[in-house]
Amino acid sequence: DLKQQVYSRLEDNDQMFQQSEVTNAINEAISCINMICGWFQKTYSISTGTTIAGRHIYDVPPEIIFPQRVIFNNQIMVKKDLLGFRFLITTGGTREAIDDVRFIGNRSSGKQGIAIAQCALARGAEVTLISANVDKTEYRNISHLQGIKKIEVTNTAELSSNLELQFDHCDVLIMAAAVSDAKPISSTGKVKKSEYRNLQLEETPDLLAGIAKRRREKNSQILVGFAAEESQNLLREGKRKFEAKGLDFIYANDINKGSIFGSDMTSGILIDNAGATEISEISKLKLANLLLDKVSVRLNSPNV
Ligand code: CTP
Repeated sequence: DLKQQVYSRLEDNDQMFQQSEVTNAINEAISCINMICGWFQKTYSISTGTTIAGRHIYDVPPEIIFPQRVIFNNQIMVKKDLLGFRFLITTGGTREAIDDVRFIGNRSSGKQGIAIAQCALARGAEVTLISANVDKTEYRNISHLQGIKKIEVTNTAELSSNLELQFDHCDVLIMAAAVSDAKPISSTGKVKKSEYRNLQLEETPDLLAGIAKRRREKNSQILVGFAAEESQNLLREGKRKFEAKGLDFIYANDINKGSIFGSDMTSGILIDNAGATEISEISKLKLANLLLDKVSVRLNSPNV
């Protein structure tokens, strides 16, 4: 199948645009214009360049630097395979107040969830992003956040109530947020240091496991979880959480002694019911597209 052939050849690296067999394949595919229209539904103009060449990629805004693209006569075409699907994505990390001054939090930067939101939007999805304590500078590379419905939350209870409100409307939930597992039982005033040893904590509810029980009939809502684990526990913990939370996919991040947090790169294991795929040091944007490729297959052929 020609369109499949062109698509898979374009996926890997920009240098392929410079190879004549690839440009010939693109020309051939473009000439079958009806077929291409069905596959790539939107075009973007680029400012410079006249021929098919990998270099031109860098002349366009970052949100459309994806594997799903073809350059032809000054235009980039982005695959719109998620058109009409509603994505609910959570990102960042929740914080639980110890008192009016301090909180229990985590080091999640929100980068991975933002990358997924950005890629899903570019591929045609309707995106709602629930964002917990993400630093504004994390949004600097997204030139069009317009189109993404953004909801800001602070703690797990707020994340939970917004999830409840939004969940029924989504086709895909991607739970990239790091939810604080522990919460002080009471939290007013200012705790004195002598009182710290008496601080009482309780567990927060498992939001993902809870919402998974509410999903519409099988296969009509896709659930994706994340986990941050030490290298030696990736597969075991990834599989355990995949089963326990009733998910379709889970990405177990290698925390790599904490260097994952705030990094643009990621390594880990992507697990679904077909098995586990090892991911070694790729950008969070690339992981986003890999994950969306798998989700897209499910959405577009629900019996897979
Ligand atoms: N999660 C959630 N609610 C929680 C904790 C986690 O919805 N209270 C979700 C996260 O958003 C993530 C997945 O569950 O998608 C796994 O998160 P993780 O913190 O690794 O799971 P826990 O079950 O809390 O595992 P652990 O015992 O290792 O802390």
